[in-house]
Amino acid sequence: MLGTILILVGGGLVLLRLFLNKLYGTVDPNNEISAKGKIVIVTGANAGVGRSTTLEFAKRDAHVILACRDISRANEAIKYIREQTTNGQLVVMQLDLGCFESVRKFATEFNRKYEKLDILVNNGAVMLNPDSHLKTTDGYEIHFGVNHLGHFLLTKLLLEKLKAAAPSRIVTVSALAHNVGSVNRILGMGKTTASGEQPKYTYSFVDRLFLKKIGPGNKPYSDSKLANALFSLELARRLEGSGVRTYALCPGIVNTGLADSLDIPKFLYIPIKVILRYLLKTPEQGCWTTMYCALSRDLINESGLMYQHCAAWDPKDRIRLKEEDSVELWNLSERLTGIIPP
Ligand SMILES: NC(=O)c1ccc[n+]([C@@H]2O[C@H](COP(=O)([O-])OP(=O)(O)OC[C@H]3O[C@@H](n4cnc5c(N)ncnc54)[C@H](OP(=O)(O)O)[C@@H]3O)[C@@H](O)[C@H]2O)c1
Repeated sequence: MLGTILILVGGGLVLLRLFLNKLYGTVDPNNEISAKGKIVIVTGANAGVGRSTTLEFAKRDAHVILACRDISRANEAIKYIREQTTNGQLVVMQLDLGCFESVRKFATEFNRKYEKLDILVNNGAVMLNPDSHLKTTDGYEIHFGVNHLGHFLLTKLLLEKLKAAAPSRIVTVSALAHNVGSVNRILGMGKTTASGEQPKYTYSFVDRLFLKKIGPGNKPYSDSKLANALFSLELARRLEGSGVRTYALCPGIVNTGLADSLDIPKFLYIPIKVILRYLLKTPEQGCWTTMYCALSRDLINESGLMYQHCAAWDPKDRIRLKEEDSVELWNLSERLTGIIPP
């Protein structure tokens, strides 16, 4: 009896894994092109999807700048990558997306050293417990500040070098969670100054049990991922005719350390991690859609769209992205990052 149950469960898991492999897709064969001569920036390159993205670019001979907040963690990542390939060039530059001064310093240094930028991968992000009410150095809600505002400012400051490399690409890693983000809450961030109020997040009883912290249930995180998607959309509109194209994507649900600082009790988190390890994408698979957006020849004439599993996103899933919202977010982001004085 027990033997039969074990065989059924084992068989079920194997079938599920085969189904997931099909769903997750494979690396696009068009990506197998050399990236030699290309200058690439990957934010949050020292861990998870960012590290595997950097590895894939290195294998393709690119010159990759690992834009990381912690230099020693970035050097650890280089060590890991160098165990697998000697191709490409890897350079670490310090970048804290949660600090406008750091973003400006990074961009000034990059613009001084490099003639052009072929591919910018806006990948770094945080997903923290909403109860922590953490803010960035400049006083903004931490998810909105790091995941959106930091990348908004960085991209704006690097635009001339991206134009100099045209045809060039800006790839912004959003998430499925953008579907449950709220534009009204995001636009309410205008009030979140260092001395001002935070937008109000409310949670149902079920949210509070578990979902409040993780994935789509984490409202500040979902809002920041919606901001990523709206940003990429508006950027495409503003860059039309410049030769700089923009792509937003969900990497899938990937087994990385993104949820590690959510203070979920270890007795729950460790078993969940063990099960998810089997079911989720590995970080290596998690970078496939990023690489597809960064290099695929199929996307050469596309801009402003969203992708998942190395394919265009079903347009039905994207009805939340409205042009008027993307324009409003753009104007707000310019004001908050100090590009337009308040
Ligand atoms: N994992 C998933 O299932 C999943 C699903 C959908 C979307 N995504 C998206 O995929 C992207 C990569 O996530 P991941 O899963 O690879 O997460 P991860 O393993 O936690 O990596 C996040 C990276 O962002 C960096 N980072 C965090 N705060 C930063 C800051 N202030 N300045 C600069 N870098 C900072 C981290 O650096 P430190 O090591 O210094 O913290 C780390 O390198 C994110 O945009 C995430 O929203 C992930």
